[in-house]
Amino acid sequence: MRAIVTAGPTLEPIDPVRFLSNRSSGQQGYAIAGALAAEGFEVILVSGPTALPDVPGVHMVRIETALGMMAAVEAALPADVFVAVAAVADWRPAKISSIKLKLDKSAMESLDLVENPDILKTIAHLPRSERPGLVVGFAAETHDVARLAREKRLRKGCDWIVANDVSGDVMGGAENAALLITPDAEDHFARAAKSEIAAQLADRIAAAVKGACESS
Ligand code: C5P
Repeated sequence: MRAIVTAGPTLEPIDPVRFLSNRSSGQQGYAIAGALAAEGFEVILVSGPTALPDVPGVHMVRIETALGMMAAVEAALPADVFVAVAAVADWRPAKISSIKLKLDKSAMESLDLVENPDILKTIAHLPRSERPGLVVGFAAETHDVARLAREKRLRKGCDWIVANDVSGDVMGGAENAALLITPDAEDHFARAAKSEIAAQLADRIAAAVKGACESS
């Protein structure tokens, strides 16, 4: 059984010294990669820049940008499961300056941004022969968490979505609480260490993937 997990932020360069990014620490994604390895999966962890050490027993692929993450995920296919935990930057500067820019008002006003690929949506919409049998997305929301996550599951085309309320100290913190939304059920994972949330999710993923392998 093979799993691909994305984690951490992506970093989108503006010039040699500046970038656009976000506050994702990578902790939840790294914990999920480790928990899937403990369940017996061969795991490829495609990670944006984080301060975290490599996960033992996991094949690490470290990238910086969303385009790099997309390419690394495609190169890691095929897989039985894809878990998109990364906080991918939705936009990147249209061009990267080779020299340090003077970021005056006119430079800032003309900072052109282009949309990054949606990695989760792309993988979820692969043809059946290439698509991982189970595609799991994350939805970090600050309000109306369950409703927005249900909508996101359908919009992205993923099978399951794990909803997080990030209005508190979840981003960068050691604990998380989650709502796992599948096509036929919704399960609450009570607030616990990110490693505990990861273990519960990995357990569910392993049961689903093993069940699918046995019935095919
Ligand atoms: O749309 P939003 O960013 O809230 O969706 C979150 C989910 O989509 C996460 O699973 C995240 O890893 C994934 N995603 C992605 N590529 C993007 C944006 C989000 O894989 N460009």
